[in-house]
Amino acid sequence: MRLRQDDTIEVKTPAQLAMMRDAGLVTAAALRAAVAAVEPGVSTAELDAIAEREIRAAGAIPSFLGYHGYPATICTSVNDQIVHGIPRPDQVLCAGDVISVDCGAIVDGWHGDSAVTVRVTESLPYASPGQPGPDDQQDDVAGLLTACENALWHGLAQAVPGRRLTDISHAIEGAAKAAGPYGIIREYTGHGIGTRMHMDPPVPNYGRAGRGPALSAGMTLAIEPMLVLGRPHTMVLDDDWTVVTTDGSWAAHFEHTVAITDDGPWVLTSEDGGAAGFARLRAGRRAGQDDRRGPIAGDTAVGNTAAGNTAAAAMASAGGAATGTASEGARHGL
Ligand code: MF3
Ligand code: CO
Repeated sequence: MRLRQDDTIEVKTPAQLAMMRDAGLVTAAALRAAVAAVEPGVSTAELDAIAEREIRAAGAIPSFLGYHGYPATICTSVNDQIVHGIPRPDQVLCAGDVISVDCGAIVDGWHGDSAVTVRVTESLPYASPGQPGPDDQQDDVAGLLTACENALWHGLAQAVPGRRLTDISHAIEGAAKAAGPYGIIREYTGHGIGTRMHMDPPVPNYGRAGRGPALSAGMTLAIEPMLVLGRPHTMVLDDDWTVVTTDGSWAAHFEHTVAITDDGPWVLTSEDGGAAGFARLRAGRRAGQDDRRGPIAGDTAVGNTAAGNTAAAAMASAGGAATGTASEGARHGL
């Protein structure tokens, strides 16, 4: 893959980043609403309708709908589906399934893009330990989800001025490998984002550090690691969209849109701008914990969130404690 010079990467002004924040927040709200509805018996088409309603109620536009002919507002990728699964009325979720929900919205021409993967459970994690997968081979789903979300946050933490693009890639790969023998998908990457959903540069989820364009304030990236329990080999189904593992192993996919600012990474699709996610990373390092246990192990405030792997818990984790947009805007020089 050729990484282009950084003069092809769109650089936003602070005012433009504020507009991208609006798109990020609409994306986050729609994703939260769809994921909150994940439970056994729900169809992926119902989740799609929820996300579309939320985006339109905000006066925004679903960015996936009609994108190269894509027929829905969200992508719903279940079990061995990795990304770009199309919601369907006849795809009904079962307890133990794992589902990636990926959502994008446009506000005033600016894009947000975010995804989260959750386990389908009957009840909240503190009420039950959660169901095992239907297949013994799939019994490490909780570890897979934690590893993928953790890898995303390690990548996001590198989105600072002066770093090189593949510092992000390398951090993701390192965190994923430290977490366990997961397959890292190489055929699909993150991407630049802004006035379009997919822009330069591609953001691989693996590779040597210190290569590619230098990152600078005003660049915005969608970072989206995809990990699998088996081999990282993919194929596309006959619908021309749904990407699945060739070996049938299950997948996880987490994504955030992040702005590189002089004050650090601003996670535009996280309600708190990324504060809780980065605090979990720091807590993990302070405690000297190895990534195998995930960044949140031992954190009683938000512990059991990603590790619990339920829809409600994952969104609690994604939302965290909001710091308020006004002070956050100030922090980012807006
Ligand atoms: N986050 C996904 C990606 O960047 C969004 C795909 S939208 C679709 O690939 F319309 F192409 F499905
Ligand atoms: Co994306």
